[in-house]
Amino acid sequence: MSATYDRIGVDYSDLRKPDPRIAARIDAALGSARTVINVGAGTGSYEPVDRRVTAIEPSEEMIRQRPVSAAPAIRGAAEELPFPDASFDAAMAVLTIHHWQDQAKGLREMRRVTRGPVVILTFDPAHRGCWLTDYLPQLIALDEAQMPPLDFYAAHLGPVEIAPLPVPKDCTDGFLYAYWARPKAYLDPRLRLGSSSFWALDGVEQGLAALARDLDSGVWTERYGHLLDLDELDCGYRLVRTA
Ligand SMILES: C[S@@+](CC[C@H](N)C(=O)[O-])C[C@H]1O[C@@H](n2cnc3c(N)ncnc32)[C@H](O)[C@@H]1O
Repeated sequence: MSATYDRIGVDYSDLRKPDPRIAARIDAALGSARTVINVGAGTGSYEPVDRRVTAIEPSEEMIRQRPVSAAPAIRGAAEELPFPDASFDAAMAVLTIHHWQDQAKGLREMRRVTRGPVVILTFDPAHRGCWLTDYLPQLIALDEAQMPPLDFYAAHLGPVEIAPLPVPKDCTDGFLYAYWARPKAYLDPRLRLGSSSFWALDGVEQGLAALARDLDSGVWTERYGHLLDLDELDCGYRLVRTA
C-alpha cells in the first residue's frame, strides 16, 4: 500500500496537536458510543480516550508517530474496511476524506460497519476559507478539487446534520486555516508543511511575498485586523453527523 503521508507526514505529530475545543465537539457528536472506528486516524489526534477505539490508517509513518498510549492502528484504507457490518457503535473521520481515492466508497464503508453515528470533520469547498485565499487564490481550486460538496455526505451516508466548526483564535492544531489570527505563521516554511495543501501547491512564493509586504506595511492590519477581535472564525470547516 503506497501512502502519501509516508512522505508528507514526517513532522505531523509536532505540527498537528489536537485542539481541545475541537476535540470536545467531536466527542459530543459521538454520543454514547462505547466502540468507535477512527478512519484515516493518522497519529491519533481527536481519538477519544474513554471509549474503545479501532484506528485505521494507510501510512506507516503516521502509525509510527502514534503515542504508545493510543489505540493500536490497523494498516488499511477507508475504501475497504476489514470488518463485518455493524461492528462499531460510532465512526469518525477527521480531515482525511480529501485524501481518499474513492470518497463515495469510503463513506459507504463507514456507514456499513457502524451501528450508530458516523461523524466526519471536513471542509465546505463552497466556502472561501479565510483571508489567506486573497493571497493564495489557488487554494480555492485545490479545495474544490479535493473536498466533496456538502450534499455528497447525505447521498452516501443517508440523512445528516451539518454544523459549522469555527476555528479558535489560538487553535493548537496546524491545519490549513488554523492560523487565521496569526498571519505570520504562513511565512514559516516549517509550519506550512503541517498542511497537505502546501505540499500540493506550486508557486506560492508570490502570494506569500505579498503577505509579507502587507504585514510589514500595515496593509494586512488595515484590511483584516478587525478579525483579531474575534475568539473564533468560521473558515469553512464542517462537522457532519448522520441523523
Ligand atoms: C490530514 S491527516 C488527518 C489525520 C488525523 N485524522 C488527524 O485529524 O490528525 C489525513 C490522513 O488520512 C490518511 N489517508 C489517506 N488516504 C486514506 C484512505 N484512502 N483511507 C483512510 N485514510 C487515508 C493519511 O494517511 C493521513 O494520515
